[in-house]
Amino acid sequence: MLVKTFGSALFGIEAIPITIEVNIDKGIQFFLVGLPDSAVKESQQRIEAALNNTGYKYPKQKIVINMAPADIRKEGSAYDLPIAIGILAASGQVDHQLIEKYIIMGELSLDGGLKPIKGALPIAIKALQEGFTGLILPEDNAAEAAVVSQLKVYGASNITDVIGFLNGEQNLEAAKPIEDAESGAGNKYAFDFSDVKGQENIKRALEIAAAGGHNVILIGPPGSGKTMLAKRLPSILPPLSIEEALETTKIHSVSGLLGQRTSLVAARPFRSPHHTISDAGLVGGGTYPQPGEISLAHNGVLFLDELPEFKRSVLEVMRQPMEDRVVTISRARISVDFPANFMLVAAMNPCPCGYYNHPDQECVCSPGIVQKYLNKISGPLMDRIDLHVEVVPVPFKDLTEKRKGEESIAIRERVMQARQLQEKRFEHDPLVHANAQMSSKQLQTYCDIDQTGRSLLKNAMERLSLSARAYDRILKVSRTIADLEGSESIRTEHLAEAINYRSLDRETWGS
Ligand SMILES: Nc1ncnc2c1ncn2[C@@H]1O[C@H](COP(=O)(O)OP(=O)(O)O)[C@@H](O)[C@H]1O
Ligand SMILES: [Mg+2]
Ligand SMILES: [Zn+2]
Repeated sequence: MLVKTFGSALFGIEAIPITIEVNIDKGIQFFLVGLPDSAVKESQQRIEAALNNTGYKYPKQKIVINMAPADIRKEGSAYDLPIAIGILAASGQVDHQLIEKYIIMGELSLDGGLKPIKGALPIAIKALQEGFTGLILPEDNAAEAAVVSQLKVYGASNITDVIGFLNGEQNLEAAKPIEDAESGAGNKYAFDFSDVKGQENIKRALEIAAAGGHNVILIGPPGSGKTMLAKRLPSILPPLSIEEALETTKIHSVSGLLGQRTSLVAARPFRSPHHTISDAGLVGGGTYPQPGEISLAHNGVLFLDELPEFKRSVLEVMRQPMEDRVVTISRARISVDFPANFMLVAAMNPCPCGYYNHPDQECVCSPGIVQKYLNKISGPLMDRIDLHVEVVPVPFKDLTEKRKGEESIAIRERVMQARQLQEKRFEHDPLVHANAQMSSKQLQTYCDIDQTGRSLLKNAMERLSLSARAYDRILKVSRTIADLEGSESIRTEHLAEAINYRSLDRETWGS
């Protein structure tokens, strides 16, 4: 007998339905055709064991399984369940009336239990588009898929429950998305700026960064609070829109990173990969392309701590994606895109020992060594960083101060007002949303400065030996500072503040 079940393949962050035809006939062999990878081929063993261990019969006949379309590679062990259900239906152990109405996915363990799959959210979205009634998948993935509320999503813990459901002998409860994540506008962050004592100037710099979407580097000795400050940046960015939340969730879904308690990623992500990360780990890759850290940070913050320790090649591969805000991974047969629109926060010590220019500790590095250390970070990545912020440790007596700092929610209000001005400014340009993304033409249009401003800038460039590339960055940042104040024009005080944020451009560092 011939039956059909339906599963789904992933292509980037989108899903493609896969038809699984199962035919059982006289004979004894097992054939699996239609470009399956080795994990899929091994499913026969798992299915046989799972059926035997749950009291069903694995047919001792010729079983032919065809997965279509044939030109899409079928990857992983998540087809165990639809293949097993197909075998059961083709051998008369499962009623085949219902099976064509559902997409079925799940990896089987040998006792019949169901293990989680990757990409439940894009699979659910596609199932709805293709007119399926529902989706049957491992219980751990149910909350994630249930975001697609018009689709019936059934989570099962083992194959027996799925069989009972399809035979009409047992009910499975339709999953609901986890409540507080449903809005997508998650305002809850574990870390708040009110925890940070002092450091008003650094908080101000991060507010500017958040307001204009500017990348930032924090330079300071160990223990000065760089990591603490960076972790709090997502909490002052505008809340995620539903579209942003869905897109970020899809990426985390295909990476298999959503726990069973998550429906939508409702807060802006904060990713902080270690400096030993590989190129593929950072930008994405693999035989079956998987998103990298820059995509997992999509719509959030990527924190590169100890920037000079990263391999140069790793930083090099980030350049194009940072420009395009998307990363394209090409393989012989396919090429997939993963969104990668993130804010970069980098951190570094001022020198190898960490204490260059420290108020009360001695730096033991020779000037040549300090320069060499700084040279490691020069180049393409530094060209994308608008704000250089020097972090000086807060004195011990201030750390014990009881008074709380301003809460993130208050800072975020100001950020959002500045962002509104920018949305209006760039409303006719779909690719630009924030000042940091301005083209040089837009820079000329929107960052006009008067004669006083121009001479201030000229003087500063000469006095501080600022490089030419500093000029555009200063203009962009001063535009954001003016926006935070609701000022149409860029005034000299806005420029003066922006000039402070270019310390790494000075010819002699720390002067
Ligand atoms: N301004 C501050 N307010 C409150 N705690 C601070 C501050 N600066 C540093 N700390 C404390 O010092 C610890 C170390 O800071 P951390 O962010 O790890 O420094 P860094 O990343 O610069 O090495 C923090 O976890 C925090 O407990
Ligand atoms: Mg740190
Ligand atoms: Zn030093």
